[in-house]
Amino acid sequence: MIPLCVPEIKGNEWKYIKECLDTNWVSSVGSYVDKFERDFAKFVGSKSAVVTVNGTSALHLALEVLGIGEGDEVIVPSMTFIAPVNAVKYVGAEPVFVDICRDTFVMDADKIEELITPKTKAILPVHIYGNIVDMDKVMEIANKYNLYVIEDATESLGSIYKGKHTGTIGHIGCFSFNGNKLITTGAGGMLVTNDEQLGKKAKFLSTQSKVTLENKGFYHTDIGFNFRMPNILAAMGCAQLENIEEYIKIKRENASFYYELLKGIENITLPIEKSQTRNVFWLYSILIEDGFPVSRDELIKIMFEEGIETRPFFIPVHTMPPYKNCRCGDLSITDEVSLKGINLPSSVSLKKEEIKKICEVLRNI
Ligand SMILES: Cc1ncc(COP(=O)(O)O)c(C=O)c1O
Repeated sequence: MIPLCVPEIKGNEWKYIKECLDTNWVSSVGSYVDKFERDFAKFVGSKSAVVTVNGTSALHLALEVLGIGEGDEVIVPSMTFIAPVNAVKYVGAEPVFVDICRDTFVMDADKIEELITPKTKAILPVHIYGNIVDMDKVMEIANKYNLYVIEDATESLGSIYKGKHTGTIGHIGCFSFNGNKLITTGAGGMLVTNDEQLGKKAKFLSTQSKVTLENKGFYHTDIGFNFRMPNILAAMGCAQLENIEEYIKIKRENASFYYELLKGIENITLPIEKSQTRNVFWLYSILIEDGFPVSRDELIKIMFEEGIETRPFFIPVHTMPPYKNCRCGDLSITDEVSLKGINLPSSVSLKKEEIKKICEVLRNI
């Protein structure tokens, strides 16, 4: 089977993790925790980075740090993995769903303003599959209405918008290092910000809001969380980060190869890279349009029979039981794209012959 997206473990992972085991620094404090935060902040170009136990907790933490809670609304896309929407609910706020752009599959910034009410506190763009939200427009609206912006840059690690890494443009950015992400720690996440006060608050809240008093036990001034990442996983993160530039290069080369082999096939829409952006093409994602000889779902079956693992686009969150009654704009593009979109194999280790085989299946149909 050609897998959809598997991790690449070929650097210092074994060495760094062994060092943690040999020295007993396996738990939530240790030099790799600090190093991973420093190295990650340097890579994306943010002033602060706070490592967390997974991406969902980074999102939860971001909302907590900004004081978003009951009675507040947060504008989110419905075309997303569910984690950012759940995080809005964790803090007691309400998600309000906005439609997406048909060419990039991400939040349509032109449709945000019509959803803003006095309850709106934040906009939460999710840069899915490597594609990038029009952040200039998002920030312009946020400034106009005094809103916070939390970017979920999990799937766009390595993507750049006008010279800045995704996740560093809004007030806070969040990442996940789950198994199939560009870099992985098995499970893990990161919160980044250019506001050092917010960064300090995030670290404090994520480590049980603990104040250590001299010669006394632990004292807690807030209700904190245990969102800490163990040193052993941070060690893996440090090793993964050492190879990230190479992984980005390969992802982009693979996307160009897909493009060369698929362009010209009628009724397939290919992903794009907008001017002044760098798309990391985390998952190479195409749309199977109405005139294509088979439907998206039939294609998934055919691919499977050919030994190729693919994945349909996200089922829109607004159609799922907990979110059916949420406020939303017109979501017709979300609904349409969700039925037509398919992610093709995108591992860093994907071979050129495998891409040829995948494209051959599509061309033969
Ligand atoms: C866009 C997005 N946000 C958040 C998450 C959640 O991250 P985690 O699984 O690390 O909690 C994921 C996937 O894992 C994701 O794809």
